[in-house]
Amino acid sequence: MSTELTWLGHGSWSIATGGQHVVLDPFFDDNPSSTIKAESVAADFILISHGHYDHIADAKRVADRTGALVVANYEICEWLSAQGVERTHAMNIGGGHDFPFGRVKMTMAQHSSMLPDGSYGGQSGGFVLMLPEGNVYFACDTGLFFDMNVIGSIGIDLAVLPIGDNFTMGPDDAIHAVGLIEPRRVVPVHLNTWPVITQDADTWADRVHEETDAEPIVLEPGETITL
Ligand code: NI
Ligand code: MN
Repeated sequence: MSTELTWLGHGSWSIATGGQHVVLDPFFDDNPSSTIKAESVAADFILISHGHYDHIADAKRVADRTGALVVANYEICEWLSAQGVERTHAMNIGGGHDFPFGRVKMTMAQHSSMLPDGSYGGQSGGFVLMLPEGNVYFACDTGLFFDMNVIGSIGIDLAVLPIGDNFTMGPDDAIHAVGLIEPRRVVPVHLNTWPVITQDADTWADRVHEETDAEPIVLEPGETITL
């Protein structure tokens, strides 16, 4: 058994674990940094952190084609169900649930959440995936918050943090976040999709080396790391 995590650009991931494919925040067809299209993504589960278009754009398209179970907060599950998405599993902040591939816990995030048609998207969240090979924390879209220290207390093998600035944490706050979470490895995301979130991931990785105990991993969209 192994877990392979492929960054699909921006906040989107494909996680192959335990013979299942878990997709996080599907944003492919309109994503300038995506290397894949919604019509070719494999999915048994789709996790959605919040309602913004750049995280939910292709959720229905992928769910309809694959029959994947969509895991999101209550408001987003209701919104997708109303559009005909058949299989949803509603969660909320602080709750965990055991899925066939591992345990998923929904964490808080400091961010807003409006769905593409203006509907209320509930609270923005992040996810901790407790997998046989280790714990992965996807902070998703968020500002820095001190409770990241609590999230890290279970032992995080891999943290995925936004560093793009403007809409989320920027590089400085993301360094502070690494210090609070104390993950073994850390990957920067939510950068360089558009000019307003342009960042130099390699420069940030150098700072992670110098200022924290974590090992930074810089990926290009489409690249995979093994947990
Ligand atoms: Ni957002
Ligand atoms: Mn976003």
